[in-house]
Amino acid sequence: MPPANNLFVVAPLSLDLTVVENGRAGRDQMNAHSRDRVVNRSAWFYIQSSVEGQQQQHHQQQQQGTLEQIASPLNGQPRLQHTRTFSSDYLEGLLSSPSIRSLASMIAETPRSDSSMLSFEPHPIVGDAWRHLRKAIVLYSGNPVGTIAAMDSSEEALNYNQVFFRDFVPSALAFLMNGEPEIVKNFLKKGVRLQSNWEKKRIDNFTLGKGAMPASFKVQFDAARNHDVIIADFGESAIGRVAPVDSGFWWIILLRAYSKSTGDHILAETPECQLGIKLILNLCLSEGFDTFPTLLCADGCCMVDRRMGIYGYPIEIQALFYMALRCARGMLKPEGDSKELLERIEKRLKALKYHIRSYFWLDFEQLNKVYRYKTEEYSHTAVNKFNVIPDSIPNWVFDFMPRKGGYFIGNVSPARMDFRWFCLGNCIAILSSLATPEQEAGIMDLFEERWEELIGEMPLKIAYPALENHEWRLVTGCDPKNTRWSYHNGGSWPVLIWLFTAACIKTGRPHIAERAVELLEARIAKDSWPEYYDGKLGRYIGKQARKLQTWSIAGYLVAKMMLEDPTNLGIIALEEDIKVKVPMPRSASWMF
Ligand code: GLC
Repeated sequence: MPPANNLFVVAPLSLDLTVVENGRAGRDQMNAHSRDRVVNRSAWFYIQSSVEGQQQQHHQQQQQGTLEQIASPLNGQPRLQHTRTFSSDYLEGLLSSPSIRSLASMIAETPRSDSSMLSFEPHPIVGDAWRHLRKAIVLYSGNPVGTIAAMDSSEEALNYNQVFFRDFVPSALAFLMNGEPEIVKNFLKKGVRLQSNWEKKRIDNFTLGKGAMPASFKVQFDAARNHDVIIADFGESAIGRVAPVDSGFWWIILLRAYSKSTGDHILAETPECQLGIKLILNLCLSEGFDTFPTLLCADGCCMVDRRMGIYGYPIEIQALFYMALRCARGMLKPEGDSKELLERIEKRLKALKYHIRSYFWLDFEQLNKVYRYKTEEYSHTAVNKFNVIPDSIPNWVFDFMPRKGGYFIGNVSPARMDFRWFCLGNCIAILSSLATPEQEAGIMDLFEERWEELIGEMPLKIAYPALENHEWRLVTGCDPKNTRWSYHNGGSWPVLIWLFTAACIKTGRPHIAERAVELLEARIAKDSWPEYYDGKLGRYIGKQARKLQTWSIAGYLVAKMMLEDPTNLGIIALEEDIKVKVPMPRSASWMF
Protein backbone atom coordinates (compact mmCIF):
# COMPACT_ATOMS: atom_id res chain seq x y z
CA MET A 1 0.00 0.00 0.00
CA PRO A 2 1.33 3.44 -0.84
CA PRO A 3 1.85 5.94 1.95
CA ALA A 4 -1.35 7.91 2.08
CA ASN A 5 0.03 11.37 2.49
CA ASN A 6 1.75 11.30 -0.85
CA LEU A 7 0.12 12.65 -3.90
CA PHE A 8 -0.51 10.04 -6.51
CA VAL A 9 -0.62 11.10 -10.04
CA VAL A 10 -2.56 8.95 -12.38
CA ALA A 11 -1.47 8.80 -15.94
CA PRO A 12 -2.53 6.64 -18.81
CA LEU A 13 0.03 4.34 -20.25
CA SER A 14 0.22 4.07 -23.95
CA LEU A 15 2.07 1.02 -25.03
CA ASP A 16 0.87 1.01 -28.56
CA LEU A 17 0.38 4.25 -30.38
CA THR A 18 -1.14 2.58 -33.41
CA VAL A 19 -3.96 1.37 -31.27
CA VAL A 20 -4.22 4.64 -29.48
CA GLU A 21 -4.58 6.52 -32.69
CA ASN A 22 -7.63 4.49 -33.51
CA GLY A 23 -9.23 6.02 -30.46
CA ARG A 24 -12.61 5.57 -29.00
CA ALA A 25 -14.40 7.43 -31.71
CA GLY A 26 -13.47 4.76 -34.12
CA ARG A 27 -14.10 1.86 -31.83
CA ASP A 28 -16.88 0.43 -33.93
CA GLN A 29 -14.75 0.60 -36.99
CA MET A 30 -11.74 -1.02 -35.40
CA ASN A 31 -10.90 -4.45 -36.51
CA ALA A 32 -10.91 -7.20 -33.97
CA HIS A 33 -7.16 -7.29 -33.85
CA SER A 34 -6.69 -3.69 -32.87
CA ARG A 35 -9.59 -3.81 -30.45
CA ASP A 36 -7.99 -6.74 -28.78
CA ARG A 37 -4.83 -4.79 -28.41
CA VAL A 38 -6.62 -1.89 -26.81
CA VAL A 39 -8.12 -4.30 -24.37
CA ASN A 40 -4.92 -5.96 -23.43
CA ARG A 41 -2.49 -3.14 -23.60
CA SER A 42 -4.10 -0.03 -22.32
CA ALA A 43 -3.52 0.43 -18.65
CA TRP A 44 -2.83 3.11 -16.18
CA PHE A 45 0.03 3.46 -13.92
CA TYR A 46 0.66 5.46 -10.91
CA ILE A 47 3.53 7.73 -10.33
CA GLN A 48 4.39 8.63 -6.83
CA SER A 49 5.56 12.16 -6.83
CA SER A 50 7.77 12.90 -3.91
CA VAL A 51 9.17 16.28 -4.83
CA GLU A 52 7.53 18.83 -2.58
CA GLY A 53 6.56 22.00 -4.40
CA GLN A 54 6.61 20.33 -7.76
CA GLN A 55 3.69 18.16 -6.87
CA GLN A 56 0.90 20.48 -7.82
CA GLN A 57 2.48 21.59 -11.05
CA HIS A 58 3.39 18.06 -11.94
CA HIS A 59 -0.12 16.95 -11.14
CA GLN A 60 -1.67 19.55 -13.36
CA GLN A 61 0.63 18.88 -16.26
CA GLN A 62 0.04 15.20 -16.02
CA GLN A 63 -3.65 15.52 -15.61
CA GLN A 64 -4.01 17.93 -18.48
CA GLY A 65 -2.41 15.40 -20.67
CA THR A 66 -4.43 12.53 -19.36
CA LEU A 67 -8.14 12.52 -18.78
CA GLU A 68 -8.86 15.32 -21.17
CA GLN A 69 -7.13 13.39 -23.92
CA ILE A 70 -7.81 9.81 -23.27
CA ALA A 71 -11.47 9.85 -23.98
CA SER A 72 -11.37 12.64 -26.41
CA PRO A 73 -12.19 12.05 -29.98
CA LEU A 74 -9.39 12.20 -32.35
CA ASN A 75 -9.94 14.88 -34.93
CA GLY A 76 -6.71 13.77 -36.46
CA GLN A 77 -4.86 13.94 -33.13
CA PRO A 78 -3.38 10.92 -31.47
CA ARG A 79 -5.56 9.89 -28.60
CA LEU A 80 -2.68 9.87 -26.17
CA GLN A 81 0.27 12.07 -26.63
CA HIS A 82 2.21 11.17 -23.53
CA THR A 83 4.09 7.96 -23.70
CA ARG A 84 5.57 7.20 -20.32
CA THR A 85 7.94 4.44 -19.67
CA PHE A 86 7.84 4.41 -15.89
CA SER A 87 6.88 1.18 -14.34
CA SER A 88 5.51 0.53 -10.91
CA ASP A 89 3.98 -2.12 -8.72
CA TYR A 90 0.61 -0.60 -9.38
CA LEU A 91 0.90 -1.14 -13.06
CA GLU A 92 2.04 -4.68 -12.44
CA GLY A 93 -0.94 -5.14 -10.19
CA LEU A 94 -3.29 -3.81 -12.80
CA LEU A 95 -1.95 -5.93 -15.58
CA SER A 96 -1.93 -9.14 -13.63
CA SER A 97 -5.35 -8.68 -12.12
CA PRO A 98 -7.86 -11.29 -13.25
CA SER A 99 -10.39 -8.65 -14.18
CA ILE A 100 -8.18 -6.82 -16.61
CA ARG A 101 -7.93 -9.94 -18.67
CA SER A 102 -11.60 -10.32 -19.32
CA LEU A 103 -12.76 -7.29 -21.26
CA ALA A 104 -12.47 -8.95 -24.62
CA SER A 105 -14.73 -11.74 -23.54
CA MET A 106 -17.11 -9.41 -21.85
CA ILE A 107 -17.60 -7.46 -25.02
CA ALA A 108 -18.00 -10.76 -26.77
CA GLU A 109 -21.06 -11.44 -24.61
CA THR A 110 -22.86 -8.64 -26.31
CA PRO A 111 -24.45 -8.60 -29.71
CA ARG A 112 -21.76 -6.24 -30.98
CA SER A 113 -19.15 -8.83 -30.23
CA ASP A 114 -16.65 -10.25 -32.55
CA SER A 115 -16.03 -13.91 -31.94
CA SER A 116 -12.34 -13.54 -32.63
CA MET A 117 -12.07 -11.58 -29.39
CA LEU A 118 -12.99 -14.52 -27.19
CA SER A 119 -9.54 -14.93 -25.79
CA PHE A 120 -10.17 -14.78 -22.04
CA GLU A 121 -12.77 -16.03 -19.59
CA PRO A 122 -14.98 -13.26 -18.29
CA HIS A 123 -16.53 -13.43 -14.87
CA PRO A 124 -19.57 -15.64 -15.42
CA ILE A 125 -22.03 -12.95 -14.34
CA VAL A 126 -20.87 -10.42 -16.93
CA GLY A 127 -22.84 -12.09 -19.70
CA ASP A 128 -25.85 -12.35 -17.40
CA ALA A 129 -25.58 -8.63 -16.70
CA TRP A 130 -25.42 -7.66 -20.38
CA ARG A 131 -28.43 -9.84 -21.17
CA HIS A 132 -30.50 -8.22 -18.45
CA LEU A 133 -29.34 -4.75 -19.42
CA ARG A 134 -30.44 -5.31 -22.99
CA LYS A 135 -33.82 -6.60 -21.83
CA ALA A 136 -34.29 -3.36 -19.93
CA ILE A 137 -34.07 -1.24 -23.08
CA VAL A 138 -37.15 0.87 -23.78
CA LEU A 139 -38.07 1.62 -27.39
CA TYR A 140 -39.81 4.64 -28.83
CA SER A 141 -41.07 4.08 -32.36
CA GLY A 142 -38.65 1.21 -32.62
CA ASN A 143 -35.61 3.17 -31.44
CA PRO A 144 -33.91 2.65 -28.06
CA VAL A 145 -34.37 5.69 -25.81
CA GLY A 146 -33.47 4.47 -22.35
CA THR A 147 -33.65 1.62 -19.86
CA ILE A 148 -36.44 0.77 -17.47
CA ALA A 149 -35.59 1.16 -13.75
CA ALA A 150 -36.37 -2.44 -12.75
CA MET A 151 -37.72 -5.58 -14.34
CA ASP A 152 -39.15 -7.18 -11.24
CA SER A 153 -42.55 -8.55 -12.16
CA SER A 154 -43.12 -9.96 -8.68
CA GLU A 155 -43.65 -6.49 -7.22
CA GLU A 156 -46.12 -3.78 -8.09
CA ALA A 157 -44.41 -1.69 -10.77
CA LEU A 158 -45.21 1.75 -9.25
CA ASN A 159 -42.87 3.91 -11.33
CA TYR A 160 -40.09 1.34 -11.63
CA ASN A 161 -41.33 0.62 -15.16
CA GLN A 162 -40.16 4.08 -16.22
CA VAL A 163 -36.88 5.40 -17.55
CA PHE A 164 -35.35 7.43 -14.72
CA PHE A 165 -32.82 10.05 -15.74
CA ARG A 166 -30.42 9.28 -12.90
CA ASP A 167 -30.83 5.53 -13.28
CA PHE A 168 -30.06 5.70 -16.97
CA VAL A 169 -26.62 7.22 -16.39
CA PRO A 170 -24.80 3.94 -15.61
CA SER A 171 -26.68 2.21 -18.45
CA ALA A 172 -25.60 5.00 -20.78
CA LEU A 173 -21.99 4.74 -19.67
CA ALA A 174 -22.04 0.98 -20.17
CA PHE A 175 -23.32 1.45 -23.71
CA LEU A 176 -20.81 4.20 -24.45
CA MET A 177 -17.93 2.15 -23.12
CA ASN A 178 -19.09 -0.72 -25.27
CA GLY A 179 -19.16 1.46 -28.37
CA GLU A 180 -22.96 1.72 -28.61
CA PRO A 181 -23.79 5.40 -28.44
CA GLU A 182 -27.14 5.42 -30.31
CA ILE A 183 -29.31 4.78 -27.27
CA VAL A 184 -27.52 7.55 -25.39
CA LYS A 185 -27.95 10.01 -28.22
CA ASN A 186 -31.66 9.21 -28.47
CA PHE A 187 -32.07 9.61 -24.73
CA LEU A 188 -30.33 12.99 -24.75
CA LYS A 189 -32.52 14.21 -27.58
CA LYS A 190 -35.69 12.98 -25.89
CA GLY A 191 -34.58 14.61 -22.64
CA VAL A 192 -34.33 18.03 -24.18
CA ARG A 193 -37.70 17.61 -25.91
CA LEU A 194 -39.33 16.74 -22.61
CA GLN A 195 -37.76 19.75 -20.96
CA SER A 196 -39.58 22.02 -23.38
CA ASN A 197 -42.87 20.57 -22.14
CA TRP A 198 -42.41 22.05 -18.72
CA GLU A 199 -45.37 24.43 -19.04
CA LYS A 200 -47.78 21.55 -19.11
CA LYS A 201 -46.42 20.34 -15.84
CA ARG A 202 -48.44 21.75 -13.06
CA ILE A 203 -48.79 20.67 -9.50
CA ASP A 204 -52.11 22.07 -8.27
CA ASN A 205 -52.10 25.25 -10.37
CA PHE A 206 -48.40 25.77 -9.82
CA THR A 207 -46.07 25.59 -12.80
CA LEU A 208 -42.56 24.27 -12.46
CA GLY A 209 -39.55 26.42 -13.31
CA LYS A 210 -38.65 26.62 -16.98
CA GLY A 211 -35.70 24.36 -17.61
CA ALA A 212 -36.58 21.58 -15.18
CA MET A 213 -35.93 18.09 -16.47
CA PRO A 214 -38.17 15.19 -15.53
CA ALA A 215 -37.30 12.52 -13.00
CA SER A 216 -38.54 9.81 -15.33
CA PHE A 217 -40.65 9.03 -18.36
CA LYS A 218 -42.53 6.14 -19.86
CA VAL A 219 -43.38 5.25 -23.43
CA GLN A 220 -46.98 4.37 -24.21
CA PHE A 221 -48.59 3.36 -27.44
CA ASP A 222 -51.36 5.76 -28.36
CA ALA A 223 -53.81 3.64 -30.36
CA ALA A 224 -55.85 6.64 -31.50
CA ARG A 225 -52.81 8.34 -33.00
CA ASN A 226 -51.19 5.06 -33.87
CA HIS A 227 -47.81 5.93 -32.48
CA ASP A 228 -45.78 5.95 -29.30
CA VAL A 229 -46.08 8.82 -26.88
CA ILE A 230 -43.84 9.76 -23.99
CA ILE A 231 -45.30 10.63 -20.63
CA ALA A 232 -42.86 12.37 -18.34
CA ASP A 233 -42.98 12.85 -14.59
CA PHE A 234 -41.43 16.05 -13.31
CA GLY A 235 -42.32 15.17 -9.76
CA GLU A 236 -46.05 15.75 -10.06
CA SER A 237 -46.74 12.01 -9.78
CA ALA A 238 -43.73 11.00 -7.71
CA ILE A 239 -44.17 9.97 -4.12
CA GLY A 240 -43.79 13.16 -2.09
CA ARG A 241 -44.29 15.35 -5.20
CA VAL A 242 -40.71 16.50 -5.26
CA ALA A 243 -39.07 17.69 -8.47
CA PRO A 244 -35.65 16.20 -9.18
CA VAL A 245 -32.85 18.75 -9.08
CA ASP A 246 -30.34 16.18 -10.24
CA SER A 247 -31.96 15.20 -13.58
CA GLY A 248 -30.81 18.29 -15.46
CA PHE A 249 -27.31 17.96 -14.06
CA TRP A 250 -27.10 14.31 -15.05
CA TRP A 251 -28.36 15.23 -18.52
CA ILE A 252 -25.56 17.79 -18.96
CA ILE A 253 -22.94 15.40 -17.58
CA LEU A 254 -24.15 12.68 -19.92
CA LEU A 255 -24.12 15.01 -22.90
CA ARG A 256 -20.47 15.72 -22.23
CA ALA A 257 -19.75 12.01 -21.72
CA TYR A 258 -21.43 11.23 -25.02
CA SER A 259 -19.43 13.92 -26.86
CA LYS A 260 -16.21 12.81 -25.22
CA SER A 261 -16.76 9.17 -25.95
CA THR A 262 -17.94 9.45 -29.54
CA GLY A 263 -16.30 12.61 -30.78
CA ASP A 264 -19.73 13.75 -31.93
CA HIS A 265 -19.84 17.38 -30.82
CA ILE A 266 -22.57 18.18 -33.28
CA LEU A 267 -25.28 16.99 -30.92
CA ALA A 268 -24.14 19.27 -28.08
CA GLU A 269 -23.88 22.16 -30.53
CA THR A 270 -27.42 21.89 -31.86
CA PRO A 271 -29.64 24.84 -30.92
CA GLU A 272 -31.87 22.43 -28.96
CA CYS A 273 -29.05 21.16 -26.75
CA GLN A 274 -27.51 24.61 -26.33
CA LEU A 275 -30.90 25.89 -25.19
CA GLY A 276 -31.36 22.87 -22.95
CA ILE A 277 -28.09 23.59 -21.15
CA LYS A 278 -28.92 27.29 -20.83
CA LEU A 279 -32.36 26.65 -19.39
CA ILE A 280 -31.06 24.25 -16.76
CA LEU A 281 -28.35 26.65 -15.72
CA ASN A 282 -30.54 29.74 -15.76
CA LEU A 283 -32.76 27.96 -13.31
CA CYS A 284 -29.84 27.22 -11.00
CA LEU A 285 -27.96 30.47 -11.39
CA SER A 286 -30.92 32.79 -10.94
CA GLU A 287 -30.44 35.33 -8.22
CA GLY A 288 -32.38 35.16 -5.02
CA PHE A 289 -31.75 35.80 -1.37
CA ASP A 290 -28.81 33.46 -1.17
CA THR A 291 -25.70 34.20 0.82
CA PHE A 292 -24.07 30.95 -0.24
CA PRO A 293 -23.07 29.76 -3.72
CA THR A 294 -24.57 26.35 -2.95
CA LEU A 295 -28.00 25.42 -4.29
CA LEU A 296 -30.94 25.40 -1.88
CA CYS A 297 -32.98 22.22 -2.25
CA ALA A 298 -36.06 20.49 -0.95
CA ASP A 299 -35.83 17.11 0.74
CA GLY A 300 -35.84 14.13 -1.61
CA CYS A 301 -34.73 16.01 -4.73
CA CYS A 302 -32.06 13.54 -5.86
CA MET A 303 -31.14 9.85 -5.55
CA VAL A 304 -32.41 10.03 -2.00
CA ASP A 305 -35.92 10.83 -3.17
CA ARG A 306 -37.79 10.54 0.11
CA ARG A 307 -37.74 12.60 3.24
CA MET A 308 -34.36 11.95 4.82
CA GLY A 309 -33.33 15.32 6.24
CA ILE A 310 -31.25 16.31 3.24
CA TYR A 311 -33.12 19.57 2.59
CA GLY A 312 -30.91 22.63 2.52
CA TYR A 313 -27.63 22.22 0.70
CA PRO A 314 -27.11 18.48 0.21
CA ILE A 315 -23.63 17.47 -0.90
CA GLU A 316 -25.01 15.22 -3.64
CA ILE A 317 -26.61 18.17 -5.42
CA GLN A 318 -23.73 20.54 -4.79
CA ALA A 319 -21.21 18.14 -6.29
CA LEU A 320 -23.43 17.42 -9.29
CA PHE A 321 -24.06 21.15 -9.69
CA TYR A 322 -20.34 21.79 -9.77
CA MET A 323 -19.72 19.01 -12.26
CA ALA A 324 -22.59 20.09 -14.51
CA LEU A 325 -21.33 23.69 -14.49
CA ARG A 326 -17.91 22.49 -15.57
CA CYS A 327 -19.32 20.25 -18.29
CA ALA A 328 -21.61 23.03 -19.53
CA ARG A 329 -18.75 25.50 -19.67
CA GLY A 330 -16.96 23.20 -22.06
CA MET A 331 -19.98 22.72 -24.31
CA LEU A 332 -21.63 26.15 -24.50
CA LYS A 333 -20.75 28.07 -27.61
CA PRO A 334 -19.44 31.50 -26.60
CA GLU A 335 -21.90 33.50 -28.66
CA GLY A 336 -25.00 35.61 -28.05
CA ASP A 337 -26.43 35.40 -24.56
CA SER A 338 -24.19 32.43 -23.76
CA LYS A 339 -21.25 34.78 -23.25
CA GLU A 340 -22.86 36.34 -20.23
CA LEU A 341 -23.94 32.94 -18.97
CA LEU A 342 -20.38 31.67 -19.28
CA GLU A 343 -19.21 34.53 -17.08
CA ARG A 344 -21.81 33.65 -14.48
CA ILE A 345 -20.74 30.02 -14.63
CA GLU A 346 -17.12 30.99 -14.08
CA LYS A 347 -17.95 33.10 -11.04
CA ARG A 348 -20.20 30.48 -9.56
CA LEU A 349 -17.65 27.73 -10.03
CA LYS A 350 -15.07 29.73 -8.18
CA ALA A 351 -17.32 30.54 -5.26
CA LEU A 352 -18.84 27.07 -5.08
CA LYS A 353 -15.48 25.38 -5.07
CA TYR A 354 -14.21 27.61 -2.31
CA HIS A 355 -17.32 27.13 -0.21
CA ILE A 356 -17.45 23.34 -0.47
CA ARG A 357 -13.73 22.83 0.00
CA SER A 358 -13.69 25.07 3.04
CA TYR A 359 -16.95 24.48 4.85
CA PHE A 360 -18.08 20.98 3.92
CA TRP A 361 -14.73 19.34 4.50
CA LEU A 362 -14.30 17.41 7.73
CA ASP A 363 -11.26 15.51 8.89
CA PHE A 364 -9.78 14.83 12.29
CA GLU A 365 -8.28 18.29 12.63
CA GLN A 366 -11.32 20.09 11.38
CA LEU A 367 -13.57 18.07 13.66
CA ASN A 368 -11.39 19.09 16.56
CA LYS A 369 -11.73 22.72 15.51
CA VAL A 370 -15.51 22.49 15.29
CA TYR A 371 -15.54 20.77 18.69
CA ARG A 372 -13.76 23.77 20.14
CA TYR A 373 -15.77 26.38 18.22
CA LYS A 374 -16.79 29.54 19.98
CA THR A 375 -20.35 30.56 19.22
CA GLU A 376 -22.20 33.83 18.70
CA GLU A 377 -19.31 35.38 16.79
CA TYR A 378 -20.24 38.49 14.90
CA SER A 379 -18.69 40.16 11.85
CA HIS A 380 -16.48 38.80 9.09
CA THR A 381 -13.70 37.88 11.44
CA ALA A 382 -15.84 35.00 12.75
CA VAL A 383 -14.25 31.57 12.56
CA ASN A 384 -17.50 29.73 13.26
CA LYS A 385 -19.30 31.52 10.45
CA PHE A 386 -22.51 29.55 10.52
CA ASN A 387 -22.74 29.53 14.30
CA VAL A 388 -22.65 25.78 14.64
CA ILE A 389 -23.06 24.79 18.28
CA PRO A 390 -20.47 22.14 19.22
CA ASP A 391 -23.07 20.32 21.32
CA SER A 392 -24.85 19.47 18.07
CA ILE A 393 -21.97 17.21 16.97
CA PRO A 394 -23.30 13.66 17.19
CA ASN A 395 -21.30 11.18 19.28
CA TRP A 396 -20.80 8.70 16.47
CA VAL A 397 -18.66 11.08 14.45
CA PHE A 398 -15.91 11.18 17.07
CA ASP A 399 -15.42 7.42 16.76
CA PHE A 400 -15.99 7.29 13.03
CA MET A 401 -13.41 9.90 12.14
CA PRO A 402 -10.04 8.24 11.53
CA ARG A 403 -6.77 10.07 12.11
CA LYS A 404 -6.11 9.68 8.41
CA GLY A 405 -8.84 10.62 5.96
CA GLY A 406 -11.87 12.83 5.78
CA TYR A 407 -15.00 13.60 3.77
CA PHE A 408 -17.45 16.23 2.68
CA ILE A 409 -20.28 16.25 5.18
CA GLY A 410 -23.90 15.95 4.11
CA ASN A 411 -25.06 19.53 4.50
CA VAL A 412 -23.98 22.93 5.82
CA SER A 413 -26.37 25.76 6.61
CA PRO A 414 -26.90 28.24 9.45
CA ALA A 415 -26.32 26.52 12.79
CA ARG A 416 -26.40 23.16 11.05
CA MET A 417 -23.79 20.69 9.98
CA ASP A 418 -25.20 17.35 8.91
CA PHE A 419 -22.23 15.16 9.74
CA ARG A 420 -23.54 12.15 7.85
CA TRP A 421 -21.34 10.73 5.11
CA PHE A 422 -22.99 10.36 1.68
CA CYS A 423 -21.36 8.22 -0.96
CA LEU A 424 -22.57 9.82 -4.18
CA GLY A 425 -21.62 13.39 -3.29
CA ASN A 426 -18.14 12.38 -2.17
CA CYS A 427 -17.46 10.29 -5.26
CA ILE A 428 -18.73 13.02 -7.59
CA ALA A 429 -16.55 15.52 -5.73
CA ILE A 430 -13.59 13.35 -6.74
CA LEU A 431 -14.70 12.81 -10.33
CA SER A 432 -15.38 16.50 -10.90
CA SER A 433 -12.20 17.56 -9.10
CA LEU A 434 -14.31 19.62 -6.74
CA ALA A 435 -12.12 18.11 -4.03
CA THR A 436 -8.47 19.13 -3.84
CA PRO A 437 -6.00 16.32 -4.56
CA GLU A 438 -5.41 16.08 -0.81
CA GLN A 439 -9.13 15.88 -0.12
CA GLU A 440 -9.50 13.23 -2.83
CA ALA A 441 -6.85 11.17 -1.11
CA GLY A 442 -8.55 11.81 2.23
CA ILE A 443 -11.89 10.51 0.96
CA MET A 444 -10.20 7.36 -0.31
CA ASP A 445 -8.31 6.96 2.99
CA LEU A 446 -11.63 7.07 4.77
CA PHE A 447 -12.97 4.28 2.57
CA GLU A 448 -9.98 2.19 3.50
CA GLU A 449 -10.01 3.06 7.18
CA ARG A 450 -13.74 2.54 7.52
CA TRP A 451 -14.10 -0.36 5.11
CA GLU A 452 -16.45 -2.33 7.33
CA GLU A 453 -18.82 0.59 7.82
CA LEU A 454 -18.85 1.88 4.23
CA ILE A 455 -18.34 -1.27 2.19
CA GLY A 456 -19.06 -4.07 4.63
CA GLU A 457 -20.23 -7.24 2.91
CA MET A 458 -21.95 -5.51 0.01
CA PRO A 459 -20.77 -2.25 -1.53
CA LEU A 460 -21.72 0.49 -0.91
CA LYS A 461 -23.44 2.41 1.84
CA ILE A 462 -25.54 5.22 0.42
CA ALA A 463 -25.19 7.15 3.68
CA TYR A 464 -23.59 6.59 7.06
CA PRO A 465 -24.77 6.15 9.74
CA ALA A 466 -28.46 5.30 9.87
CA LEU A 467 -30.95 7.47 11.68
CA GLU A 468 -32.55 5.57 14.53
CA ASN A 469 -35.35 5.86 17.07
CA HIS A 470 -36.44 9.39 17.87
CA GLU A 471 -34.19 10.94 15.24
CA TRP A 472 -35.63 8.61 12.59
CA ARG A 473 -39.18 9.58 13.63
CA LEU A 474 -38.37 13.25 13.56
CA VAL A 475 -36.28 13.38 10.42
CA THR A 476 -38.03 10.86 8.14
CA GLY A 477 -41.54 11.36 9.47
CA CYS A 478 -41.59 7.68 10.58
CA ASP A 479 -40.93 6.41 7.06
CA PRO A 480 -41.34 2.60 7.15
CA LYS A 481 -39.24 2.20 4.02
CA ASN A 482 -36.37 4.14 5.53
CA THR A 483 -36.00 2.28 8.81
CA ARG A 484 -32.47 2.06 10.20
CA TRP A 485 -29.88 0.46 7.93
CA SER A 486 -32.38 0.10 5.12
CA TYR A 487 -32.93 1.82 1.75
CA HIS A 488 -31.79 5.45 1.89
CA ASN A 489 -31.21 5.25 5.62
CA GLY A 490 -27.89 3.44 5.69
CA GLY A 491 -28.77 0.81 3.08
CA SER A 492 -26.14 -0.55 0.67
CA TRP A 493 -26.63 0.21 -3.03
CA PRO A 494 -24.73 -1.85 -5.60
CA VAL A 495 -25.17 0.88 -8.23
CA LEU A 496 -22.68 3.02 -6.33
CA ILE A 497 -19.90 0.62 -7.33
CA TRP A 498 -19.33 2.49 -10.60
CA LEU A 499 -18.83 5.80 -8.85
CA PHE A 500 -16.55 4.23 -6.28
CA THR A 501 -14.52 2.45 -8.95
CA ALA A 502 -14.15 5.64 -10.96
CA ALA A 503 -13.00 7.49 -7.83
CA CYS A 504 -10.54 4.69 -7.01
CA ILE A 505 -9.02 4.79 -10.48
CA LYS A 506 -8.81 8.57 -10.52
CA THR A 507 -6.95 8.56 -7.23
CA GLY A 508 -4.67 5.73 -8.26
CA ARG A 509 -6.19 3.02 -6.08
CA PRO A 510 -7.87 0.56 -8.44
CA HIS A 511 -7.00 -2.34 -6.15
CA ILE A 512 -9.54 -1.12 -3.60
CA ALA A 513 -12.24 -1.09 -6.24
CA GLU A 514 -11.30 -4.59 -7.25
CA ARG A 515 -11.82 -5.77 -3.68
CA ALA A 516 -15.24 -4.20 -3.61
CA VAL A 517 -16.20 -5.57 -7.01
CA GLU A 518 -15.23 -9.07 -5.89
CA LEU A 519 -17.52 -8.77 -2.87
CA LEU A 520 -20.35 -7.71 -5.10
CA GLU A 521 -19.70 -10.44 -7.65
CA ALA A 522 -19.90 -13.11 -4.99
CA ARG A 523 -23.59 -12.47 -4.40
CA ILE A 524 -25.35 -10.07 -6.67
CA ALA A 525 -26.33 -12.32 -9.56
CA LYS A 526 -27.42 -15.13 -7.22
CA ASP A 527 -29.56 -12.57 -5.42
CA SER A 528 -31.02 -11.44 -8.75
CA TRP A 529 -29.43 -7.97 -8.89
CA PRO A 530 -31.29 -6.28 -6.03
CA GLU A 531 -31.78 -2.56 -5.81
CA TYR A 532 -30.29 -2.36 -2.31
CA TYR A 533 -29.24 -4.41 0.71
CA ASP A 534 -30.05 -3.89 4.37
CA GLY A 535 -28.15 -4.15 7.63
CA LYS A 536 -25.04 -2.58 9.06
CA LEU A 537 -22.86 -4.70 6.81
CA GLY A 538 -25.29 -4.83 3.90
CA ARG A 539 -25.76 -8.54 4.44
CA TYR A 540 -29.48 -8.85 3.73
CA ILE A 541 -31.39 -8.22 0.52
CA GLY A 542 -33.35 -5.02 1.10
CA LYS A 543 -36.76 -5.31 2.72
CA GLN A 544 -38.55 -3.79 -0.24
CA ALA A 545 -35.73 -4.01 -2.78
CA ARG A 546 -36.67 -4.67 -6.38
CA LYS A 547 -34.90 -7.50 -8.11
CA LEU A 548 -33.34 -7.06 -11.56
CA GLN A 549 -32.76 -3.42 -10.80
CA THR A 550 -31.18 -2.02 -13.95
CA TRP A 551 -28.71 0.40 -12.41
CA SER A 552 -27.36 -2.34 -10.12
CA ILE A 553 -26.64 -4.31 -13.29
CA ALA A 554 -25.26 -1.40 -15.31
CA GLY A 555 -23.24 -0.04 -12.37
CA TYR A 556 -21.44 -3.36 -12.13
CA LEU A 557 -20.70 -3.46 -15.86
CA VAL A 558 -19.34 0.07 -15.84
CA ALA A 559 -17.11 -0.73 -12.86
CA LYS A 560 -15.79 -3.81 -14.67
CA MET A 561 -15.15 -1.95 -17.90
CA MET A 562 -13.30 0.83 -16.10
CA LEU A 563 -11.10 -1.60 -14.22
CA GLU A 564 -10.36 -3.47 -17.37
CA ASP A 565 -9.72 -0.40 -19.48
CA PRO A 566 -9.05 2.51 -17.13
CA THR A 567 -8.97 4.93 -20.04
CA ASN A 568 -12.77 4.68 -19.88
CA LEU A 569 -12.54 6.96 -16.88
CA GLY A 570 -11.94 9.90 -19.22
CA ILE A 571 -15.54 9.72 -20.38
CA ILE A 572 -16.81 10.71 -16.98
CA ALA A 573 -14.03 12.35 -14.97
CA LEU A 574 -12.77 15.93 -15.05
CA GLU A 575 -9.34 17.17 -14.16
CA GLU A 576 -8.51 19.82 -11.61
CA ASP A 577 -9.80 23.09 -12.96
CA ILE A 578 -6.74 25.26 -13.24
CA LYS A 579 -8.80 28.21 -14.40
CA VAL A 580 -10.52 28.31 -11.04
CA LYS A 581 -7.68 28.47 -8.56
CA VAL A 582 -8.73 29.50 -5.12
CA PRO A 583 -5.68 30.31 -3.03
CA MET A 584 -7.72 32.13 -0.40
CA PRO A 585 -7.42 31.29 3.30
CA ARG A 586 -10.57 30.07 5.03
CA SER A 587 -11.03 33.21 7.07
CA ALA A 588 -10.92 35.57 4.10
CA SER A 589 -13.99 34.44 2.20
CA TRP A 590 -15.82 37.68 2.96
CA MET A 591 -13.49 39.41 0.53
CA PHE A 592 -15.30 37.98 -2.50
C1 GLC B 1 -35.89 4.92 -5.89
C2 GLC B 1 -34.54 5.60 -5.66
C3 GLC B 1 -34.24 6.56 -6.79
C4 GLC B 1 -34.31 5.84 -8.11
C5 GLC B 1 -35.68 5.16 -8.29
C6 GLC B 1 -35.75 4.31 -9.50
O1 GLC B 1 -36.91 5.85 -5.79
O2 GLC B 1 -34.54 6.26 -4.44
O3 GLC B 1 -32.98 7.13 -6.58
O4 GLC B 1 -34.10 6.74 -9.14
O5 GLC B 1 -35.92 4.32 -7.17
O6 GLC B 1 -34.83 3.27 -9.44
